[in-house]
Amino acid sequence: MKEENNKVRLTTMSTKAGCAAKFGPGNLAKVMAHMNLQERKDDPNLIVGFGTCDDAGVYKIAPDYALIQTVDFFTPIVDDPYTFGAIAATNALSDVYAMGGTPLTALNICCFSTGLEPEVYAEILQGGLDKVTEAGAVVLGGHTVTDNEIKFGVSVTGYVHPDKVLTNGGAKPGDVLILTKPIGTGVISTAFKNNIIDEAQMAESITSMSTLNKAASEAAQKIGVNACTDVTGFGLSGHSYEVAAASNVNIRINLSELPVMEGVLELIEKDCIPGGGYNNRNHYEKWVEFEGDVSETKKSLVFDPQTSGGLLISVPKEKAEALVEELTKRKTLRSQIIGEVLPKAEGDKYITYYEGKAE
Ligand code: CO
Ligand code: CO
Ligand code: CO
Repeated sequence: MKEENNKVRLTTMSTKAGCAAKFGPGNLAKVMAHMNLQERKDDPNLIVGFGTCDDAGVYKIAPDYALIQTVDFFTPIVDDPYTFGAIAATNALSDVYAMGGTPLTALNICCFSTGLEPEVYAEILQGGLDKVTEAGAVVLGGHTVTDNEIKFGVSVTGYVHPDKVLTNGGAKPGDVLILTKPIGTGVISTAFKNNIIDEAQMAESITSMSTLNKAASEAAQKIGVNACTDVTGFGLSGHSYEVAAASNVNIRINLSELPVMEGVLELIEKDCIPGGGYNNRNHYEKWVEFEGDVSETKKSLVFDPQTSGGLLISVPKEKAEALVEELTKRKTLRSQIIGEVLPKAEGDKYITYYEGKAE
């Protein structure tokens, strides 16, 4: 699988890229509906299980020490093997940060096809190793499977004080919502895959996807926040919905304040929308309301599946300024207040988008 210039195009080897390769929203719920699955609610050490659609599981092993466990792996989202490895690891580590934790150890998950040079896989693994190291964690090993469609990712174990766990479910009316990275990686990746833009035009997206949410998570823990998640495959709407539903609140997002990657709105106008974006819209739109005049472009944007997106943080209003200051001091990418939390209103809507005046 080599191109004339002798460079492998990893993204041509899979049909879906990055977090857009997730089993669609709703599909997993359908599977689980056929099972007799019950969380071990009888186990007093279980802090966060699979029941609440949170970012990772949390299990207490000592009065002041809980383990966080998560796994994430996917198909190539860029052509460069090292960058793919780095993004996959950054994305996996993010779920530990979304829980307010610190990564400890990592195990690689490698689905590698035969017929590629060993150097390619070495670079993928190196990219992953370097990110895990940057996070202060240690790669302990991993597992390989032969697979025609390349996939790579990491299972991460982290820790957090049991009283400091950040879940989806703590958002409170009066909170302010802060997002720590711009959105648009799904659209950008689709444009790249369809040869509408080149890898140079992916620079902003690549920088964003390979930036750890470490600084953002540490800032959130320092200031003290009510809820946190990371924005990934289900898009801004999907992950906002998970927070709103788990917290039993309504979320209002000002589209004029939403940080968007350069070129993304123009690409959406050219119909550069990933399949995962349509899946997300089909599934989550019933809980979403667009107030006033919202363009079709922005409506697509809020369902765009993100790979290794930023943290969505719900913080008491009086602490919001301090948190933005702390985030800026720690040089997170583009932290911005994007909305607010309101009491749950009657009806099945959880998220309202509107075009407010940008401040
Ligand atoms: Co997550
Ligand atoms: Co995940
Ligand atoms: Co969380």
